[in-house]
Amino acid sequence: MSGVHPRTLRATPAMRRLVAQTRIHPAQLVLPMFVREGITEPMPIASMPGVVQHSLDSLRRAIDEAAAAGIGGVMLFGVPEHKDAAGSGATDPDGILNVATRVAVAAAGDALVVQTDLCLDEFTDHGHCGVLDGAGRVDNDASLVRYRDMALVQAAAGSQLLGLSGMMDGQVAAVRDALDDAGFVDTAILGYAAKYASAFYGPFREAVQSSLQGDRRTYQLDPANRREGLREVTLDLAEGADVVMVKPAMSYLDVLADAAAVSTVPVWAYQVSGEYAMIEAAAAHGWIDRRRAVEESVLSIRRAGAEAVLTYWAVELAGWLR
Ligand code: PBG
Repeated sequence: MSGVHPRTLRATPAMRRLVAQTRIHPAQLVLPMFVREGITEPMPIASMPGVVQHSLDSLRRAIDEAAAAGIGGVMLFGVPEHKDAAGSGATDPDGILNVATRVAVAAAGDALVVQTDLCLDEFTDHGHCGVLDGAGRVDNDASLVRYRDMALVQAAAGSQLLGLSGMMDGQVAAVRDALDDAGFVDTAILGYAAKYASAFYGPFREAVQSSLQGDRRTYQLDPANRREGLREVTLDLAEGADVVMVKPAMSYLDVLADAAAVSTVPVWAYQVSGEYAMIEAAAAHGWIDRRRAVEESVLSIRRAGAEAVLTYWAVELAGWLR
């Protein structure tokens, strides 16, 4: 047969390996972790088989494991015993997330970057990412005041990268200003620039025992909108984000590619709880090959433009990559 032969480069495993255009390195993986106040043993999360709510002890062990696996970092989420309207636990230096951060930083040393979720939803009794006004709406600027305080407490606890996941307007600029004023110039900001109001956060709401009634559609992006994702990325860049993120990952690879095309800072993506749960559930039924599906899903997110990926498989995947 004459003509052009794209199959030539697919003929052998060695040739395919040589010409692969995308690779995953353990350092490009970040493990999200849940730490629950008041427990002494890790607790399973039914909708996320293999993922747990950590006690402080099991967190320490898991950080050692993550460091040994060579992953790039961990992202901590707190699950407090008590919640209130202001999300006070978020700014209490002895609140679970801040205590867990100190434990994680001590365990991690220089091996990986400890990052923290900077959002009120785990700490508010109404479950929203900000505080509410008299009419029950999420109050943007009052929430920014809370985020500024939260940033200072998290930075003081040793978090090196603050994950701003609340989707309030101006949150990156507000937090940058607060950090700089207090001298935390080396604390970096991860802007969840394009975070969509997604059904794929379902299992996460169980993981953090969310009290949310209703939805987050007045602050998270509409899944219908691609251009709006780019707008949010552009704003976060202008406000000084050190890293920008697209979330969820798999259903938003177009937005991710758009972000990667314009960003002057690293672009990450978050393979969220529902993405994890779908693959785990299908694999448990024997309907897909688990390992191949996990590898392909993360590789695809990298191919679309993410330099690093937050994934609940980070440690296991890093193990396979050795
Ligand atoms: C909000 C937050 C959420 C997730 C990360 N940060 C939930 C939400 O916005 O409802 C979801 C992560 C996942 O589903 O894995 N603090």
